[in-house]
Amino acid sequence: MFLGVGARRVQELLRGEMEALGMVVRVDAAGNLRGTYAGAAAGESVLLIGSHVDTVPNAGRYDGVLGVAVALGCVRALRGHRLGFAVEVVAFSEEEGIRFKLPYIGSRALVGTLGAAELERVDGGGVSVADAIAGFGLDVKRLGEAGLTPGTVGYLEVHIEQGPVLEALGLPLGVVTGIAGQMQLEVGFRGRANHAGTTPMGLRQDALAAAAEWVGVVERYAAAVPGLVATVGVMQVGPGAANVVPGSAVATLDIRHAEDAVRERAAAELVRAAERAGEVRRVSVTVRELSRQAAVAMDAGMVGVIAGAVEAAGYGVHRMVSGAGHDAMILAGRVPAGMLFVRTPGGLSHHPDEAVAVGDVAVALGAMMRVLEVVSD
Ligand code: GLV
Ligand code: MN
Ligand code: MN
Repeated sequence: MFLGVGARRVQELLRGEMEALGMVVRVDAAGNLRGTYAGAAAGESVLLIGSHVDTVPNAGRYDGVLGVAVALGCVRALRGHRLGFAVEVVAFSEEEGIRFKLPYIGSRALVGTLGAAELERVDGGGVSVADAIAGFGLDVKRLGEAGLTPGTVGYLEVHIEQGPVLEALGLPLGVVTGIAGQMQLEVGFRGRANHAGTTPMGLRQDALAAAAEWVGVVERYAAAVPGLVATVGVMQVGPGAANVVPGSAVATLDIRHAEDAVRERAAAELVRAAERAGEVRRVSVTVRELSRQAAVAMDAGMVGVIAGAVEAAGYGVHRMVSGAGHDAMILAGRVPAGMLFVRTPGGLSHHPDEAVAVGDVAVALGAMMRVLEVVSD
């Protein structure tokens, strides 16, 4: 969770690792932990490598933090050898967007898009992003200093695939060519709460019945459009009593597709479907956009270097689009970005049973060292 108790602990742990590797460490005003391993000469360019250290509720152990661990593994494997550029390792404070229903808070700070609107966003307890930053002992007025380190020439991220494709292909690694666009909406259904025993079925304004019908439409619609995924992941029902007809239901809708036009069309259709489900029950529907991120391509040069490293490691190169969002999609707006995926046993992620094979991580580390070698040539 963004700047919760766990954040302090993970930062202490990583700071110790970074300092032991001779890195200069700071926490920026968005709570990102950043460690720099200097290059051979002062004033050189900087290669940024990292991922996020926040998680979803009931998460696995590798989503995000694997990328930070591999980045530090690269620095360790250099054994004091200095490259022609500095390596900055970043552990982003918030990628998942759980606390504020706003993903990529950490990486937005690096590219300068964590603005007033984002800082005013509040969590379920009414605490704003700006308050959370101050509560963690950071100074929101110093967000300007959280921008990309001058001289940053690129961003690399290692991440578990979080899907079944690499396992099915029998490959430990995948090369990411792009990341699907995504948006999240909050859809509110407002009817009228009333007595469950005395209100005849025909006279109800049941908000949850409307929402439930709509959830079915969401599933059927997405299943019928190739490549589209749509998820209702949260449903809050009020007043929430067995003997009261639900007066309100507030749901989230997460929609993703590699083509922005398909995603936008789906969003419009599914909003209309919510309104239709409401109309027949005299339930009003309101929609609030929580976040919207266009699909992005990874940098062709980075894709080529990563693919070359996978090939040099002796494995087939599989290029793929990521259905999951990553900090790389934010960084790609400012610097050449590339991603390397690691096979996910069982394709299971956002789940406590999420796993990686140690051997696959070793192959990923080797490939990343090769990438560093090629970039420094
Ligand atoms: C991040 O995990 C996302 O794709 O939602
Ligand atoms: Mn995740
Ligand atoms: Mn992740």
